[in-house]
Amino acid sequence: MDRVTIVEVGLRDGLQNEETILPVDVKREIAEDLMAAGVKELEITSFVHPRWIPPLADAAELACSLSPVEGVTTRALIPNRKGLERALATPVDEFAVFLSASETHNRKNVNKSVADTLPVLREVVEEATTRGKRVRGYVSTVFGCPYEGEVPLPRTASICGELLDMGVYEISLGDTIGVATPVQVREFLKALTKEIPAGCLAGHFHDTRGTALVNAYVALEMGVTTLDSAFGGLGGCPYAPGASGNVATEDLIYMLEGMGVETGVDLDALCRVSEKVGRRMGKTLPSKVLASWTAT
Ligand code: HMG
Ligand code: MG
Repeated sequence: MDRVTIVEVGLRDGLQNEETILPVDVKREIAEDLMAAGVKELEITSFVHPRWIPPLADAAELACSLSPVEGVTTRALIPNRKGLERALATPVDEFAVFLSASETHNRKNVNKSVADTLPVLREVVEEATTRGKRVRGYVSTVFGCPYEGEVPLPRTASICGELLDMGVYEISLGDTIGVATPVQVREFLKALTKEIPAGCLAGHFHDTRGTALVNAYVALEMGVTTLDSAFGGLGGCPYAPGASGNVATEDLIYMLEGMGVETGVDLDALCRVSEKVGRRMGKTLPSKVLASWTAT
């Protein structure tokens, strides 16, 4: 494996579920520090309703405060047309749309059925594409739903097909509540990639039960070479009870470097970012590599 793309989602997924709301200047500094550490794909915020996700209410201000950096792509989550309009008024490079494979999580998360969400996303993707923006898609709860339990694979496959048909260039598969186990991920990807090419897929593993890193490894073995992660292991979805952080970017980088995969990210610099954020939030961030770095 020569190349793995890491999508740093800490500023969005990492902060959306936190009680501490960081000021926009602090977020800007984190984004700049992450870029200086070598992160090339950065999901910076969401243009969702500020009442639903108060920690990201400053989306436009943050997006407008960042100076473009050569070779770095910034991205924001968009739920609907209103979010798209807000995002288009900022310099964010790319967008991401999202929905869930399970009906109940989708309703809790975006207040609509899956069937009613798809046309909303289609309009967003088509309009964004016309305006020259690339759009990624997320499918949540693919390995399990906090309300419905197991989610049949054909639901995910059919939603992935719809997203590709709309024009998204990549689909990130969300283990929203961190229930997946490695053999499940292997079997799931073996079946899904019969319909959806692995090159269009990304892995988004939450670490609720300590399986995110091994699931990421299995995804790589199955040809999914884009992985989402969050600095320090922050993360969670407010509408998925029990969900906790994403796989930590530090832990992922450490594993990839051990496999001889060049990531371009300076692990030491990344740990400094997470340590600073942890101090600022008054908490210990869950990354294991960060804990070992802090101790030495
Ligand atoms: P709604 O209340 O159904 O919206 O919320 P509505 O369309 O009925 O509109 C109601 C009012 O909200 C209107 O204003 C709209 O203009 C306004 P009024 O006319 O009453 O004054 N409005 C907005 N304002 C600002 N920005 C907007 C927007 N949209 C409508 N974008 C909505 C629907 C989707 C907005 C809401 O449910 C929402 O914001 N949900 C976001 C939930 C969220 O962010 N969840 C976490 C992200 S997903 C995730 O974490 C999973 C992931 O990480 C992958 C994984 O782990 O699986 C991606
Ligand atoms: Mg997530």
